[in-house]
Amino acid sequence: MYYYLLISLVSRACAQSVFYESYSGNVLSNEEVKVHLKKNTTFWCINEVLPCNPYEGRRLDGTCNNLKYPTRGAPHTPQYRLLPPEYDKDFEPKTAKSGEPLPLSRSVRTTVLAEGRVPDSRFTQLLTYFWVYVIGDVLSVHDTVNYIRWKPYCCQERGKTDKACIPNIIPDDDPVHRFSSVRCMNLTRPESFQSIGCLKNDTVPERIVTSTPIFDLSQIYGMSLKITNEKARLLKKGMLKFEMENGKLWPPSTKTPVNLCLLNQMPYEKRCHDTPDAGANSVLGPNLFVIWTWRLHNRIATILSELNPCWDDDRLFFTTRDIVIAITMQIYFYEMSPALMGFDNLVREGVISPYKEFRDIYDENILPQVSLEFPAVQRWAHTIQEGKLKMYDANGNYLKEHRIVNITLRTGYLVDNLEYITQGAFRQPAAKVDYIIDPDVSETGLGPHQLAADLATSDLTKNRYFGFAPYIKYRKLCSGKTYSTFEDLLDVIDPQRIELLKEKYKSVEDIDLMAGIWAEKLVKGGSVPVTLYCVVVEQMLRTVISDRHWYERPNRPNAFSLEQLLEIRKASVAQFMCAVGDTVTEIQPHAFFLAGKGNEMRSCKQIQKINLWPWKDFSCNTKQDNINCDI
Ligand SMILES: *[C@@H]1O[C@H](CO)[C@@H](O)[C@H](O)[C@H]1NC(C)=O
Ligand SMILES: *[C@@H]1O[C@H](CO)[C@@H](O)[C@H](O)[C@H]1NC(C)=O
Ligand SMILES: *[C@@H]1O[C@H](CO)[C@@H](O)[C@H](O)[C@H]1NC(C)=O
Ligand SMILES: *[C@@H]1O[C@H](CO)[C@@H](O)[C@H](O)[C@H]1NC(C)=O
Repeated sequence: MYYYLLISLVSRACAQSVFYESYSGNVLSNEEVKVHLKKNTTFWCINEVLPCNPYEGRRLDGTCNNLKYPTRGAPHTPQYRLLPPEYDKDFEPKTAKSGEPLPLSRSVRTTVLAEGRVPDSRFTQLLTYFWVYVIGDVLSVHDTVNYIRWKPYCCQERGKTDKACIPNIIPDDDPVHRFSSVRCMNLTRPESFQSIGCLKNDTVPERIVTSTPIFDLSQIYGMSLKITNEKARLLKKGMLKFEMENGKLWPPSTKTPVNLCLLNQMPYEKRCHDTPDAGANSVLGPNLFVIWTWRLHNRIATILSELNPCWDDDRLFFTTRDIVIAITMQIYFYEMSPALMGFDNLVREGVISPYKEFRDIYDENILPQVSLEFPAVQRWAHTIQEGKLKMYDANGNYLKEHRIVNITLRTGYLVDNLEYITQGAFRQPAAKVDYIIDPDVSETGLGPHQLAADLATSDLTKNRYFGFAPYIKYRKLCSGKTYSTFEDLLDVIDPQRIELLKEKYKSVEDIDLMAGIWAEKLVKGGSVPVTLYCVVVEQMLRTVISDRHWYERPNRPNAFSLEQLLEIRKASVAQFMCAVGDTVTEIQPHAFFLAGKGNEMRSCKQIQKINLWPWKDFSCNTKQDNINCDI
């Protein structure tokens, strides 16, 4: 990155690109750019933007999405806050109203969330996999890598003098660890524009992430044209590079012995993926969807190239990418989100349209950004993450199980097991929505990477370091109501759980956002806590309003025709699995829900397919009319 920038700086006169400061979005002078080059902070603190062309399609690096503010939409640009931050001095977490420190995160977690395993009677594992995958599009993994790899000493003496260390203390009366000697769990402060060296340390810490803040499948396509061209594109027929192993199609693998798949059991498990974005080797759900989506891309590109032999690689690649992004968003907005939050609710909020035609609510005055709260509140999903992975054969016979936390950063495990995991994805229930967390997630959430790791406790601690306002202020934002006593919370929290919160928090103003969400009732007509619902709805609306290239728009560069959009509307995760899932020949049509009455498993032949015929370019002058255009 350093060299690319150096070269383009030298050749700036002909490349005509402009350098912007990533945080402010202001244009930088040559002198200012040189300072960053010297400090080696260009990667994080600078966005280089080629002149915008209003007729150009979606760029890989997200620039020029907003024509007035060309860097907004690019990596390393700031997130916005739904509510102003509240910190103590030196941007340390605020104290309780009494002036004392807030209760230990771990003790809040063990009080509010019980541990256990209860399977859900509605949702499948596939829903949790897709959820983590789709959110990963706008996030980055560096905060976890930080305390596992870069600063693994937060629970040791050295951690006491490193400001980045914010380990979770385990109290002596801990329900699990009173039987062990573990008294500390590793954790580091979230990376910010300040910690990375872009902003002065005496300013409010603002989170920095490596993905584009737009839903554009950064996990697949990366964030830089140059890197994607080198690493991911075959540069033939619009396809992505691929490898065959064990009769299956995979993304390209790492060629060096050193790789990110730290849990691969050598020498048997070698596979580790080398894609433009680090998300290809991570927790199980995203790992699976990266592999499947990779295949979907090549399948679509292949059909398009047969259909339109006169199209060049670039046109095939970018058209395919646009279709794959649209299919993913159609599933996210119209299938997964209604399953969780309620179809009628989302129609009423304007997040989804009840009609199949185009819709256009774009407003160039709203910047393409993600709120800091959006990913944070969704970490509630840790409470519906099943700890045990059940594997099945294609006939639905149960084969074996494995701990999910043991497969993190272990892509090699998939080589021999992918078909069984795939079958399990839509046969095994998710964990129930029930204020109970799987003990694997809450005690050994990072598997063998750490002796002890409570993901939910870390989620709560990070709330405090993000400087989130108290829970009741978010309640006010969402409902307009003012909460001044614990009893006021009865409209959103059951009395017995208010008791639990009272055990830990002296004042209602002390309740952390995450703790409130853990304890909350579910939204009417949906299966998620009310404040999570409110924060997510705000973001999804903003996404549709602020993304100039949103797939439902008729007025965007290379917009779909109505005929094409109507094909995208047929997308479903069941059809997706039929297209690219190993050994999937039958499935239930609503595959985020368990099979059952009204949702019986059936042959993939009976699942509605997307047909690519509307993408036929008649100017190619081909006579072929026997191409199967079904995905
Ligand atoms: C410069 O920064 C990049 C990106 O953060 C890093 O990978 C590289 O190691 C740094 N180079 C030097 C010489 O510090
Ligand atoms: C802020 O402090 C961190 C260490 O805590 C340091 O790495 C970083 O470079 C500092 N940033 C600036 C702009 O001085
Ligand atoms: C998970 O990993 C841990 C640590 O490597 C190991 O002790 C345990 O046996 C593994 N569990 C399973 C089910 O593989
Ligand atoms: C914290 O990290 C260190 C170094 O990797 C490790 O030895 C220790 O077991 C970790 N602590 C816990 C509770 O996992």
